[in-house]
Amino acid sequence: MRMRSNVGWLYCLQLLCAMSTLRAYPFTPPLDLDVTPRTTVLFNELWGCRRFSGSALNYSTLLLEEEPGLLYVGARGALYALQASNISSSSHTIDWEAPEDRKQLCLNKGKDNKTECFNHIRFLQRFNSTHLYTCGTHAFSPQCAYIDSREFKMSSVIEEGRERCPYDPAKGYTGLLIDGQMYTASQYEFWSSPDIRRNSPNPMLRTEEAPTRWLYEADFVESALVKESVNSSVGDDDKIYFFFTEKSQEHSLYFSYGRVARVARVCKSDRGGLLTLQKKWTSFLKARLVCSLPDYKFHFNVLRSMFVLEGPRTEDTMLYGIFGLEWKNVKASAICRYSIKDVQQVFEGPYMENQEDAGAKLTEYTGKVPDPRPGSCITDRLRERNINFSTDLPDDVLHFVRRHPLMSRQILPLGQRPLLFRRTVDYTKIVVHKVTALDGQTYHMLFIGTDEGWLQRAVEINGQLHIIEELQLFEEPQPVDSIVISQKQMSVYVGSPSGVVQLPLSTCHRYTSCFDCVLARDPFCAWDGAECVEITSHPDRSSLTQDILNGNQGCAKSAADDLALHRIRSVVAGDDVLLQCELSSNLATPRWTRNKQQLQGYGLNSGYRIGTDGLLVIEARPEQSGNYSCFALENGVRIHVVIYKLIVHQYLPPAPHSTLQPKNSNDSNPAPLPPQFQSMKNMEAMYISLITILGGLCLVLTVVLLYVSFCVQSKRGKYSLRAAAQADRKKKRNDRMELKTISSHCNGKANTHDGLLQIVPGEAQVSSNKELPPAPPLPPPPPNSELDYTNGFSATLPSVLRKMNGNSYVLLRQTDGDTTSPLYYSFTDELNQILEKRKHTQLCSKPDESSV
Ligand SMILES: *[C@@H]1O[C@H](CO)[C@@H](O)[C@H](O)[C@H]1NC(C)=O
Ligand SMILES: *[C@@H]1O[C@H](CO)[C@@H](O)[C@H](O)[C@H]1NC(C)=O
Ligand SMILES: *[C@@H]1O[C@H](CO)[C@@H](O)[C@H](O)[C@H]1NC(C)=O
Ligand SMILES: *[C@@H]1O[C@H](CO)[C@@H](O)[C@H](O)[C@H]1NC(C)=O
Ligand SMILES: *[C@@H]1O[C@H](CO)[C@@H](O)[C@H](O)[C@H]1NC(C)=O
Ligand SMILES: *[C@@H]1O[C@H](CO)[C@@H](O)[C@H](O)[C@H]1NC(C)=O
Ligand SMILES: *[C@@H]1O[C@H](CO)[C@@H](O)[C@H](O)[C@H]1NC(C)=O
Ligand SMILES: *[C@@H]1O[C@H](CO)[C@@H](O)[C@H](O)[C@H]1NC(C)=O
Repeated sequence: MRMRSNVGWLYCLQLLCAMSTLRAYPFTPPLDLDVTPRTTVLFNELWGCRRFSGSALNYSTLLLEEEPGLLYVGARGALYALQASNISSSSHTIDWEAPEDRKQLCLNKGKDNKTECFNHIRFLQRFNSTHLYTCGTHAFSPQCAYIDSREFKMSSVIEEGRERCPYDPAKGYTGLLIDGQMYTASQYEFWSSPDIRRNSPNPMLRTEEAPTRWLYEADFVESALVKESVNSSVGDDDKIYFFFTEKSQEHSLYFSYGRVARVARVCKSDRGGLLTLQKKWTSFLKARLVCSLPDYKFHFNVLRSMFVLEGPRTEDTMLYGIFGLEWKNVKASAICRYSIKDVQQVFEGPYMENQEDAGAKLTEYTGKVPDPRPGSCITDRLRERNINFSTDLPDDVLHFVRRHPLMSRQILPLGQRPLLFRRTVDYTKIVVHKVTALDGQTYHMLFIGTDEGWLQRAVEINGQLHIIEELQLFEEPQPVDSIVISQKQMSVYVGSPSGVVQLPLSTCHRYTSCFDCVLARDPFCAWDGAECVEITSHPDRSSLTQDILNGNQGCAKSAADDLALHRIRSVVAGDDVLLQCELSSNLATPRWTRNKQQLQGYGLNSGYRIGTDGLLVIEARPEQSGNYSCFALENGVRIHVVIYKLIVHQYLPPAPHSTLQPKNSNDSNPAPLPPQFQSMKNMEAMYISLITILGGLCLVLTVVLLYVSFCVQSKRGKYSLRAAAQADRKKKRNDRMELKTISSHCNGKANTHDGLLQIVPGEAQVSSNKELPPAPPLPPPPPNSELDYTNGFSATLPSVLRKMNGNSYVLLRQTDGDTTSPLYYSFTDELNQILEKRKHTQLCSKPDESSV
C-alpha cells in the first residue's frame, strides 16, 4: 500500500516536473514583458471617484471639451452634457430614442429587443463653433443630427445616417470630423462590404471593391488625422490613418493567420480619379501592423484599441496599440508601440502584388512602379508638373494603385517587441498621457481599461512598462468602452455599459510612507517629508523626493524600519499559527526573520511556510517561540512591516485537537477503535483514496499542464495560485494568492527556476495557442462508485494537504462551465476551506492577539 502510494507520488511528481520543464522551455515569455501591477485597489477602496449614470445604458461615446469644461456623453437613447470638474454635480440630457414603429421594424428584422433595437449613439464630435454632430444606430436605421451646444438641444433637421453610421451597435466603427468633412469607416450594413468613406460635403469618396479587395471583412478600431503638411518641405498633404483588423490575404510559409492588424491611410485632399477610380480614393494604401513576441512566432493579430500620441513635431508622433489573440476564449493582451516614421517608411516602400494566376498569392511587386508614385498625395513637385489635384493623375498610376493597395513590408513595433504582454487579461482601451516628472523628463503614462472594468495606470521607463496600479472601477464586471483624459481637470473619464466614472489622474496620498511613494514610481507623486503629494500642487519642488528612473532612491534608510507594527501572539503547542503580513505591493516579496536570524529551509520538515499573506508555523513547538519579523523586499529596498512576539505554550491536556482533524471521520469509522488502530485504518483508507485521487489528479494536471503552455512563469520562483471564486476578489489579493513553497522534489534543490510550475486552471484557456490541440474535455470522474468524493476528500484532504506542504498548496480554480467533474470541484473547495479555516482558527478564535 505504502509502496504503491509512494510510487504514485513519485510518478506524479516526475510527471509534473517533466511537464513543467517541457512546457516551460519553448514558451517562457520574456519575463520583463509580463508585468504585475504594483498595487491592486478594489472597488471599495477607490478614493475621489465621481460617477454619473442616467436612466440610459451603454455610455460608450465620450467627447471632452476642455474650454467650456464639459464632458459630452453618448449613451443608448440619450445624450448628456456633464460638468467636467464633477460629473456627478449636474447634467443636461437630450432624449433621443428610436420611435416604437422603428423598433418594431427592427424586431421584425430578427434583432435583439434587449440590446440592438435602440438608438445607440456611435458618433459625437464638434461640427463648428456652435454645433455638435451626432449619429445613432436608431434601431437599425441610422440617423444623424446637429446639436446646438450652447443650449444642448437637438436641431430639428434629422439626417439620414446610412452612409456614415453602422446599423449594428456592436460593429467596429470609427469616424472623424475634419474641417466640416466627415470621415468614417465601418461595415455599415450586415451585407455590405466594409468601407472607408468621406461623406460630406462632396466629393464623396469610398474604397474600391474590385478587382482587389481593398478591405476584407475589416473591423475598424480607430482613426486619426496626422498633420504631415505642417513644416513639409515638399508641400505634402495631411493624412488620415485608419486602424483595423481584417482577414489576411497574405499567405506565409510558416503561418497562415486568419486575421491581421492593419493601418490604412488616405490623403485629406484626395478628390478621387477622373475616369479611373472615380469617386474612389486615389491615395488608399494599407500595411500590416506586427505585434509579436520575439524569438517565438506568436502573433497578436487582433487590434483592439489604438491611441495616437502627438509629439512636438509630426515625426515624433507615436502609436500605442492594444492587441489580442485571435482565439476568443483566450485571454491575453499585448501593447505595441510604433513610430509614425516607421509607418511612413513602409508606405514609401515596395508594394505587394496579387498574382491572380498564382492562386491569389501575394508577393512583393518587383516590376516598374509608375511615376508619380501611386498612392502618394499631391506635393509641390507634382504641382510643378501641372498635377494640381488627384483628378489630374495619369491613368497608369491610378490603375496601379487600384491593384496594389497593400504594402509589402510590415510595420514593426519600436524595439521589435511588445512593450507589454499580459496573460489572463483582456485590455479593451488605451489612452496615453504625457507627464513631466520632478527630474524634468517627460514620461508617457498609459491608462489601460480591461474587459472586466479595471483601469491600469502604467508608466513607460526606458522602453519598459511599470504598472503603478490597477483600479477596480465597477462592482459589476463590464468592459471599459472609452477613456478620455483632461489635463485641466486632472481627471480621467471612463465610459462603460453602466455609467461614466471620473477619477483623479493620480491619488498620491494613498502611499503612506516615503518608500511607498518612491517605489510606486508615479510621475505625478513625490514625498514632501511628511506625506506623498501631487507635484503639481506643491509650490516648492526642491524639497520633494521622487525617483522614477530607479524607483528606490531618496528616502532615509531608517525610514524603512520605523513603520513596523508590533504584535504578540500566544498559542498552544501543536497549533498551526498564521502570522499575517499583508504586503501592500504586489511586487514585494516577504522575508521573515526569527530573533534576527533569517528563516531558512522552508523544506518538508522545517515547520514553516511562507505565503504572500503571512508565515505559517505548522504544529508550533515551544522552541519556536521568539520574535518574528516580516520584511517586504521590493526593488532592492527592505521594509520592516510587522514584528510578532510568538509565545508557544507547552502542550496542554486534554487530547490534541488539530485544526485539521477530519470532520467526517465518524462516517468512515463507525466502530470506535483504539486510537492507533483508528489512525492505521484511516491511513489505509487514506492511501487507497490517495492513489485513486492522485491518479485522477495526475490526469487532470497533465491535461491542464498540456493545456497551460505559457502559464509557466518562473519569475521570482514562486507558485502563483489563483484562488477559487471571482467573489474572492473582494478579499484583497485572494485572487493572486502566491505561496512561496517551492517544490524541492523536482531536482533536489529549491532552485528558483527549475521545477516550477504555475497551476492556474482557471486560466487554462490561455494556453490554447495554435500549436496546441483544442482543449480536451476534462476526464470523467473515476468509475469507482464506492467512493463518495466529498467524504473521501474530507477524510483525506488534511493529509493530502500535509503532504503537499512539502511541495506546495495546489489550488485549482474552477473554470466556468467546463468543470463538471466532482473531483475537480471538491478538491478546489476543500483546499479553500482548509486554507480559510486555518486562517480562521488563528485569527478569529483569538481576536485579542495579546491574550494569555
Ligand atoms: C450595452 O450594455 C449591455 C449591458 O448593460 C451590454 O450587454 C451590451 O453589450 C451593451 N451594448 C453595446 C453595444 O455596448
Ligand atoms: C460632486 O457633486 C456631487 C453632487 O452635487 C457632490 O455630492 C460631490 O460632493 C461633488 N464632489 C466633489 C469632489 O466636489
Ligand atoms: C423581448 O422579447 C422577449 C421574447 O420575445 C420578451 O419576453 C421580452 O419581454 C422582450 N423584452 C423587451 C424589453 O421588450
Ligand atoms: C454650424 O452648423 C450649423 C448646422 O449646419 C449651422 O446651423 C450653424 O449656423 C453653423 N454655425 C456657424 C457658426 O457656422
Ligand atoms: C514646424 O516648424 C517650427 C519651426 O521650425 C516648429 O516650431 C514647429 O514645432 C514645427 N511644427 C511641427 C508640427 O512639426
Ligand atoms: C495647376 O495650377 C496652376 C497654377 O495654379 C495652373 O497654371 C495650371 O493650369 C493648373 N493645371 C491644371 C492641369 O489644372
Ligand atoms: C524579543 O523582543 C523583545 C523586545 O521587543 C526583547 O525584550 C526580547 O529579548 C526579544 N527576544 C529575543 C529572543 O530576541
Ligand atoms: C462523531 O460521533 C460522535 C458520537 O456519536 C458525535 O458526537 C460527533 O458529533 C460525531 N462527529 C462527526 C464529525 O460526525
